[in-house]
Amino acid sequence: MRLKNRVAIITGAARGIGAATASLFAQEGAQVIIWDVLDLGAKTAEQIRQKGGKADFTKLSVTDSSGIQQEVHRIMEQHAQIDILINNAGILRDKTLLKMEEEDWQSSLDVNLGGVFKCTKAVVPHMKAKGYGRIVSASSITGMRGNYGQSNYAAAKAGIIGLTKTWAVELGRFGITANVVAPGFTETEMVESIPSEVKAQITKQIPVGFLGSTEDIAHAYLYLASEEARYVNGVCLNVDGGMAR
Ligand SMILES: NC(=O)c1ccc[n+]([C@@H]2O[C@H](COP(=O)([O-])OP(=O)(O)OC[C@H]3O[C@@H](n4cnc5c(N)ncnc54)[C@H](O)[C@@H]3O)[C@@H](O)[C@H]2O)c1
Repeated sequence: MRLKNRVAIITGAARGIGAATASLFAQEGAQVIIWDVLDLGAKTAEQIRQKGGKADFTKLSVTDSSGIQQEVHRIMEQHAQIDILINNAGILRDKTLLKMEEEDWQSSLDVNLGGVFKCTKAVVPHMKAKGYGRIVSASSITGMRGNYGQSNYAAAKAGIIGLTKTWAVELGRFGITANVVAPGFTETEMVESIPSEVKAQITKQIPVGFLGSTEDIAHAYLYLASEEARYVNGVCLNVDGGMAR
């Protein structure tokens, strides 16, 4: 078990990549804490417990600074440690530049980038006190290459890489590493709305010839969240079938 006795917060884990990660981390022995705005998170945690894993859910937005502080306090009271933070929550508010309203811009930046800043800032003092921490955040192939209709999302996801490289420098000496996973096109509800002919076009650009699964991304998070990755710090790991090479 690679995460035995570890306490892991996973944001946006009610469904999709986050839910697969919560399930995998629990199998690896972690106490998983799911933060999500969807009530579905309760069911996801329940399914993990039914399989013998340790998981609980708090309905919380990664934009809610005081809610995050309260929740971190609760976790410290209950578990006395926070070892791993997976900043996985994300939203799409796609529109081309000229159609994009400031609200679309702001909400994307608030959740996709501001959420990473707020959650990380709240847990780092506790990681620092223990001399151990793993911070892994979800960027995207869009953060590196841009994508049609995604100015807001691309800016946020590129920003995550800059934040992480800064934290790698600031926090490394406290036993805390910070890394990024940049998924390519992955089969979740987030990509469900893409028309099938566009999906076929995208698939042609992926050297391995298929879209990723939620487990493909969860395994990358697991490696970077594990003790084995202690010498990996400030990297962006593309998990995209070779698309962004
Ligand atoms: N699916 C892909 O192809 C793909 C590609 C690149 C990057 N990503 C990134 O991977 C991560 C997971 O994506 P997914 O495909 O599983 O998406 P998803 O939409 O299936 O899941 C995202 C989860 O985040 C939650 N969430 C949204 N806003 C939140 C908030 N304010 N606070 C807390 N939780 C919130 C949602 O409720 C949902 O459960 C995201 O950061 C996404 O940007 C996904």
